[in-house]
Amino acid sequence: MDTVSLAKRRYTTKAYDASRRIPQATVDALLEQLRHSPSSVNSQPWHFIVADSAEGKARLAKSTAERFAYNTPKLVDASHVIVFCTRTEMTEAHLNAVLEQEAADGRFRDEQARAAQNQSRRHYVDLHRYDQKDVQHWMEKQTYLALGTALLGAAAHGLDATPIEGFDSKILDAELGLRERGFTSVVILSLGYRAETDFNAGLNKSRLPVSQVFTFL
Ligand SMILES: Cc1cc2nc3c(=O)[nH]c(=O)nc-3n(C[C@H](O)[C@H](O)[C@H](O)COP(=O)(O)O)c2cc1C
Repeated sequence: MDTVSLAKRRYTTKAYDASRRIPQATVDALLEQLRHSPSSVNSQPWHFIVADSAEGKARLAKSTAERFAYNTPKLVDASHVIVFCTRTEMTEAHLNAVLEQEAADGRFRDEQARAAQNQSRRHYVDLHRYDQKDVQHWMEKQTYLALGTALLGAAAHGLDATPIEGFDSKILDAELGLRERGFTSVVILSLGYRAETDFNAGLNKSRLPVSQVFTFL
């Protein structure tokens, strides 16, 4: 697969063809790829809300209605919309659940390996919680890695997509009851097929030049 072509071909879709839906098999593949996103110490501090019904997407669009109305059509006309959520706390229960899952998935040859992984993960969590005092930011970074994974995955499946930060997370958290569940919304990804009228589809891609972006040692 030519990943450079994929990176150049994908673009931020500004208008969707509301009549087109992503086949379920493609959605399933994309979600499976998303679930396999990497995260620091395999912390997986995320949850994803997937809306594919008109009702579900209308609920999400409450978060753009007031201050981000230009993003509303990208939510309601897209085929599927994923809300990327991050944990509001790194809880004991979550750390234990990740450890148990790793054990069930055969990650540990013996009890010593399990204890070492548990200790290493907790070391990183405590580093961000107490020393760097940025545990929320650190967890959100992991969620953004998942966004990057999904963006390239969407392109690989021939889907159009829009990453969206322009929404009111307070409104969306309340609408979805996220905080009660220990999560907060961070970024949204719309997925589907572009409308013929999408002005952005015909524009050249723009990126800073190699000389500015890279330093080679
Ligand atoms: C995290 C993130 C948030 C973004 N939020 C919005 C948004 O709210 N609305 C929008 O139309 N585009 C949004 N964009 C699209 C960017 O403007 C776009 O990715 C950038 O201009 C590069 O263009 P390209 O994606 O077409 O290559 C967002 C992109 C990212 C990565």
